[in-house]
Amino acid sequence: MAEFSVLGTDASLTAQKAASDEGYPLTPEDQAWLEAVYEKLKVKMKAEAERIGTMIPYTTREGKYHDLDVPGGLYFWTNGFWPGMLWQMYNATGDEVYRTAAEGVEERMKEVLTGFEGLDHDIGFLFLPMSVANWRKTGSEDARRNALHAANLLAGRFNPVGKYIRAWNNAPWTGNEVSGWMIIDCIMNIPLLYWAAKECNDPRFEHIAIAHAKTAQKYIVRPDGSCNHVLIFDSKTGEFLNNPGGQGYGQGSSWSRGQSWAVYGFALSYRHTGDESFLATAKQCAHYCISNLAVNGWIPLVDYRAPAEPVKYDSTAGMATAAGLLEIARHVGEYEKPLYTKAALNILKACEAKFCNWDPEQDAIVGGGTFFYHDPTGKDTDVPIIYGDYYFIEAVLKLLGKDLFIW
Ligand code: GLY
Repeated sequence: MAEFSVLGTDASLTAQKAASDEGYPLTPEDQAWLEAVYEKLKVKMKAEAERIGTMIPYTTREGKYHDLDVPGGLYFWTNGFWPGMLWQMYNATGDEVYRTAAEGVEERMKEVLTGFEGLDHDIGFLFLPMSVANWRKTGSEDARRNALHAANLLAGRFNPVGKYIRAWNNAPWTGNEVSGWMIIDCIMNIPLLYWAAKECNDPRFEHIAIAHAKTAQKYIVRPDGSCNHVLIFDSKTGEFLNNPGGQGYGQGSSWSRGQSWAVYGFALSYRHTGDESFLATAKQCAHYCISNLAVNGWIPLVDYRAPAEPVKYDSTAGMATAAGLLEIARHVGEYEKPLYTKAALNILKACEAKFCNWDPEQDAIVGGGTFFYHDPTGKDTDVPIIYGDYYFIEAVLKLLGKDLFIW
């Protein structure tokens, strides 16, 4: 027993377990790389913000963004990422050009709250990086009201029998109305509920978020850390029915952006609740992603469990995974931090070298994004996508200690 107590001295336990927000373990080379990227970001983002202002971009055509060039118009799930990028840059630089544009986008976007019908579970992706970011940075009462309204709409999608937040309104692949679907993506929307619970001092929001996260833990995450994308429940009885394929290769595969949502989303559920099981799940999914990325040059495939050919990449999965790994790194002791920090840096560096376009005359930074595996037209494959840029910026600013915590 004596030997074991040596291993378990207070000092070693503290070093292994204590969570620390004191920054990331970076080498001088990492620091130099980050600072060089930050300089390029400032040039590129300033040019974009001046050029597109309150437009709401998604992807580029001939190197240019176009306003609301998306199927759902103002309701499309990615519309919060441009204001999120602007708030991140405003927080880091203090340049008013970013704040003015971000506030203008929110002015345009707020009508969706009353328009309502195009909204779905992804309302968190809309209002966290737009209104919660605004409120955190400026204390705006309008932004707070927008975010609380959005949180109430999200909470209203909860199915108390099945204990999940309903995904979508019509299933994308069938066009049918679906009330029994839940998806991994939604783990990134529930921080809106954690925020609202604290903001209103009303634990109902947190009860819903935790119940949803526990259902996701039970049915979405597989023992090896890979994830289902879609689950189907009987929405009347709450009985689990099926886990069909989603945006990845097929049933039983492992869609990489869904994996990234699991890494980041469970880490955030840990941050907001202190429930250690959420951190364990985030790590389980992170270890699965790290293993797959390490054998593939740190460039994410669209699906980690798909045929070797054709090779299809999704840089956006890498960016969101990196941001999530950095969230995990904040909550582990000093001997664990390097694993998550180095893996995040490896992804960022590999994707920056392969995909980034730093020409300030052209819109978008990170190319190589793919919306889904089976893309019949190819127009959503190997393109810049706005959330790739958002998570790239967030991850770089996190590592530099200049990020605005949004989620
Ligand atoms: N939330 C949808 C996606 O990640 O594509």
